[in-house]
Amino acid sequence: MRKTNITDIKVKAVRNLSNPDFLEYHKNNDAFGDEWTEKFLEYVNIPLRKSIRINTLKISPDDFFKNFPYEHTQILWCENAYFIDEQKIGLKIEHAVGLCYAQEASAMLAAEALDIANNDVVLDLCAAPGSKTTQVAIKNFSGTIVANELNLKRAQALIANVSRLGIMNCIITNYDACKFPDLFKFDRVLLDAPCSSLGTSRKNKEILKTWGYKFSLAVSKVQKKMILDAFSHLKKGGILVYSTCTTPTEENEDVIKFLINNRSDAEVEKIDLKVNCEKNEYGIRVYPWHNDTETAFVSKIRKK
Ligand SMILES: C[S@@+](CC[C@H](N)C(=O)[O-])C[C@H]1O[C@@H](n2cnc3c(N)ncnc32)[C@H](O)[C@@H]1O
Repeated sequence: MRKTNITDIKVKAVRNLSNPDFLEYHKNNDAFGDEWTEKFLEYVNIPLRKSIRINTLKISPDDFFKNFPYEHTQILWCENAYFIDEQKIGLKIEHAVGLCYAQEASAMLAAEALDIANNDVVLDLCAAPGSKTTQVAIKNFSGTIVANELNLKRAQALIANVSRLGIMNCIITNYDACKFPDLFKFDRVLLDAPCSSLGTSRKNKEILKTWGYKFSLAVSKVQKKMILDAFSHLKKGGILVYSTCTTPTEENEDVIKFLINNRSDAEVEKIDLKVNCEKNEYGIRVYPWHNDTETAFVSKIRKK
């Protein structure tokens, strides 16, 4: 009789956590398949490395690690960002006083893809709790960022994070992203869209249990509405970055296709970051096995 090895047990355990909708959708979709699904479920059980960005408004990376000597490895696609050996960094004093910001490494890609130039005026349409807002604000310290969030409770977390990091170039607003006032055109727009979040399964296994295809389809409709509006706030020549932390094509490539079909002045640009990923004509996909992170989809679109 064939012995069951530990990997088999792990995969079975996670498969039980999962649900038939997840398995059926991913196994039967050409973009994924059996092997992809097994691999994705295997990684759900592998603990996630902790990562931080150093807040260079307050301290240099050298001084930070002199004072707080964590073992660290540079994250190649984001300046001043590191994997560190402390899982509870969010509870430490250096985090509380804003010397660093704990952020999952694949979530750092979207703000990098914006290709911020000094003095840019940036709109972050779905901004709370502020990971990407603070990343952009620190990078673009001589420019301005408008960070918008619909959910008031989450907007409070955004305000707290912006204030903890000592960021002074950020304006916080509270609009529905589909109804953001058309008073000004921006150099850069970030749409880190609400999504079905399957790509956060290493941190939160529950998401695998609750995900449903119908939910993804419903979210996709909202995302399509949001991306059209987001694009309308861009200056000519400006860049829109669309990102999610989920896998279904309906919430990723299909949203970009929808924009291109509706706006002849929208053009997808290549994303050139030092990250292992899958590339397609609409953007990049990062899976846990590429860089030992969570999952991300990022697309960069120029307004012609
Ligand atoms: C993926 S999260 C954003 C994460 C954030 N960009 C970060 O890096 O910290 C999506 C956010 O969009 C917000 N949201 C959902 N619907 C919205 C809408 N219609 N307008 C503006 N924000 C919305 C959610 O409350 C949530 O905070």
